[in-house]
Amino acid sequence: MTSRNRSRRSVLAVPGSSRKMIDKAKGLPADEIFLDLEDAVAPLAKQAARESIGDALAEDGWGKQVKVVRVNDWTTEWTYADVVEVVGRAGAHLDAILLPKVPDASHVQALDLLLTQVEKANGLEVGKIGIEPQIENAIGLTNIDAIATASPRVEALVFGPADFMASLNMRTLVVGEQPDGYDRGDAYHHILMTILMAARAHGVQAIDGPYLQIRDVEAFTRSAARTAALGFDGKWVLHPTQIEAANEVFSPRQSDYDRAELILDAYAFHTSAAGGGRGAVMLGDEMIDEASRKMALVISAKGRAAGM
Ligand code: GLV
Ligand code: MG
Repeated sequence: MTSRNRSRRSVLAVPGSSRKMIDKAKGLPADEIFLDLEDAVAPLAKQAARESIGDALAEDGWGKQVKVVRVNDWTTEWTYADVVEVVGRAGAHLDAILLPKVPDASHVQALDLLLTQVEKANGLEVGKIGIEPQIENAIGLTNIDAIATASPRVEALVFGPADFMASLNMRTLVVGEQPDGYDRGDAYHHILMTILMAARAHGVQAIDGPYLQIRDVEAFTRSAARTAALGFDGKWVLHPTQIEAANEVFSPRQSDYDRAELILDAYAFHTSAAGGGRGAVMLGDEMIDEASRKMALVISAKGRAAGM
């Protein structure tokens, strides 16, 4: 089974160079764990990190998290070796590759081709390892539809706010907060909505990036709640204290889940009573119709994926 439809409410970033942090992450209740070979790992530490990630993934002790490795982007000299080394050592235990700084579809296609070859060379099922392109600059956002459809391996579009803000020359150093002097609403709204629209148009998940003030869980929760309300599927977490908050924020509220199930039951009952025809029906004082059923399906599917 691919990890395309698995829950990604909390996506824990773990430096691939720290065996201690990888071992600790194994037991944490994040929906996804990504082991980083990119910005969290110094150039001279990359080879050791590839080996350590490969060994760690192949060992026992993992929970049911989606297991992902972030490789370096294609403008570096490291990407091919990241993939060959990690998939060669632990491809059977890896769900997806997170590909940073994707400017256009060619970067996703290049990874798709390389993965196919490395999967074949290692006797793995071809196509099982997914790709999560990170949208981290203006050109990537401009090409987002082509990126989302560049390969059937694409499972999620991931916002990279820190690199994105740098690429825009945005005057802020606090990732996740509004830039100083901007008082017109949410400076990230257009970027977030564009990522979300592409994700929904092409049937993949939409994941928000990190909030760097890791000690302020309240501010993290506020930031996560904004993208959860829009419809994002999850958010990066950088510290164990953020995991629970993300899992809660990106799960439907129990009352919404119960109401969604009620709408689905009522609509199914009326539909079968009417011999399969569909139209508006009453549920208590509320009129529900086919669109209500679709909205309820979204909440219900998210709730079920979250184990409600
Ligand atoms: C993450 O990679 C970011 O740039 O925010
Ligand atoms: Mg980045």
